Amino acid sequence: MAPCDSPVRLTVRTGLHDKRSPPHSPTSASALTPPVTPIGKGVLHAELLTPSPTTEDPSSSTQSSAQTTRHVGVPLIFPDEIDICHDESRRPFEFGRGAWSIVYRARSVPKQSTGSLHTPPSSPASTGRILAVKAPLRRDAHKVLQSEALTMTRLSLTPGCENYMVPFHGFLPEYDALVMSAIPLALSTFIEDKADARKHNPSTATMFEPVQGPDSWRDMARKLITCLAWLHDTAGLVHGDIKPHNVLLRPTVTDTPDAFPFEPLLADFSSAYEIPSDSSSTSNVNQTALSAFTPPFTAPELLSLASLRSGEIAPLPSSDVFSLAATLIAAATGDLLLYPGSNNFQRLAMAKDGHRILDFTRAGSNGCRIPRYGFVEKLIQPAVVKDPTQRILTGDWVALASC
Ligand SMILES: Nc1ncnc2c1ncn2[C@@H]1O[C@H](COP(=O)(O)OP(=O)(O)O)[C@@H](O)[C@H]1O
Ligand SMILES: [Mg+2]
Repeated sequence: MAPCDSPVRLTVRTGLHDKRSPPHSPTSASALTPPVTPIGKGVLHAELLTPSPTTEDPSSSTQSSAQTTRHVGVPLIFPDEIDICHDESRRPFEFGRGAWSIVYRARSVPKQSTGSLHTPPSSPASTGRILAVKAPLRRDAHKVLQSEALTMTRLSLTPGCENYMVPFHGFLPEYDALVMSAIPLALSTFIEDKADARKHNPSTATMFEPVQGPDSWRDMARKLITCLAWLHDTAGLVHGDIKPHNVLLRPTVTDTPDAFPFEPLLADFSSAYEIPSDSSSTSNVNQTALSAFTPPFTAPELLSLASLRSGEIAPLPSSDVFSLAATLIAAATGDLLLYPGSNNFQRLAMAKDGHRILDFTRAGSNGCRIPRYGFVEKLIQPAVVKDPTQRILTGDWVALASC
């Protein structure tokens, strides 16, 4: 069994490209800058990124299960070259890792002019800037990232994307890598930092409050719920793997001293897919979209034996709502694993009984941070009810969080 804090890989989506769509922009393996590129310490070693194993012409493959791509046939192609940054020891600079990928710190470099009229112009938004490049960590991740590129392309065309998702600059098809703005702070790190700060500076005055402070938590909760409402109601997608590691924080200026000084941005769309048109359905046989999940943050209905055995696990908006509620609980208590002191087996057992998440958390050492009938419970309770069809909808949840 995988540790509860690490995602479990289940299935891989296939069939990413639409037959009718035009081929990718012309690119070649030489788009990667050789190690001699004199840009700081940063150079992209081609060996860091595994060449795409896709041998077929992507423009001629068929689209099958990846319904995230309903409106997008080909991903946005990153127009420039990329230099991966290195640290003093000449090691590639990593922002983070997940179930499928390594995310490197990188810099864009305008493509050498080939004289071709078809060379796409450099994007002023990305040239010379520090970027994040998400590259496959293992062979079976290539298809996942190809699909994610289509999802991010589609999301980038959705109104409001600039406020709610990590900015996407394009895809490197030779390496199945995604290029994004660098947002170096994950919500998971923020939670750990706040929990550490409280541990080193304990106070009875604040022991019944979220570790980051009540106003900041409330503000953060409202912003996060608004992000999810955008994803569900405007973009029409389920995220499928909401958890603190998959939310990035962009600093923002605020006049209010106790406000949450970040804009949360949704990241990691490797498990995302189209919301089924029949929103009351609890499974979708055509979907193999749940490519990874993380038990403590996964809605209990997705962890039932029947779900796991059938392999037809399909997260719905209601399961994202549960996962975000679990994320908000982790932020309140400062316990990233939700159930501190328990082993993986116990954690999975509790996750399967996830509608009792508030009781389980209260039994933990930081449970006092979620007092009964307090504002945290009020916001969380309707989002974790057992029957997914009875869980609060994101639109109503935004309203509740804004009271
Ligand atoms: N745009 C980004 N800027 C900085 N760090 C990032 C960015 N995207 C992801 N990361 C870091 O890399 C980690 C892994 O990325 P993620 O997209 O979640 O990959 P996976 O699909 O493998 O889980 C994240 O938890 C985060 O810490
Ligand atoms: Mg992730």
